[in-house]
Amino acid sequence: MAGNKTFTMIKPDAVAAGHIGGILDQILKSGFKLVAMKYTYLTPEKAGEFYAVHKERPFYAGLCAFMSSGPIIAAILEKDNAIEDFRKLIGATDPKKADEGTIRQRFANSIEANAIHGSDSDENAQIEGNFFFSAFERF
Ligand code: RTP
Ligand code: MG
Repeated sequence: MAGNKTFTMIKPDAVAAGHIGGILDQILKSGFKLVAMKYTYLTPEKAGEFYAVHKERPFYAGLCAFMSSGPIIAAILEKDNAIEDFRKLIGATDPKKADEGTIRQRFANSIEANAIHGSDSDENAQIEGNFFFSAFERF
């Protein structure tokens, strides 16, 4: 059965552009409940660790530099079918391909500076939540 939690980050581009409020508003109005949230930073090393799965990809160095370029919001969200519903809400990785009304279509500028992260599986939601918050299971 699909789990009811996901992990998200509002990325440095969206924080810098003043979109924290607009993005959180859309997330909450879409039925997700906030169960943990922090305003924080990733160092380049921590960004590299978080996105280690992409370390062989050509965009990895740029991604680590971008993700450590400014403050982010990290949060754990709860809703039935959280992973799939949240990926649908944020839209395609490339905002130019994201459906109308999705968070990336509304708030993102490029395939790299794409405003928001969403976990892609229950297992990764747990790993990513634990990366920022102690005891993900307790939330
Ligand atoms: P995320 O993990 O951040 O939710 O994004 P995603 O699943 O939609 O995309 P993924 O393939 O996991 O890529 C992670 C992040 O790397 C950047 N990226 N840049 N320049 C490029 O071609 C490229 N491709 C991906 C994006 O910031 C993407 O969200
Ligand atoms: Mg991903």
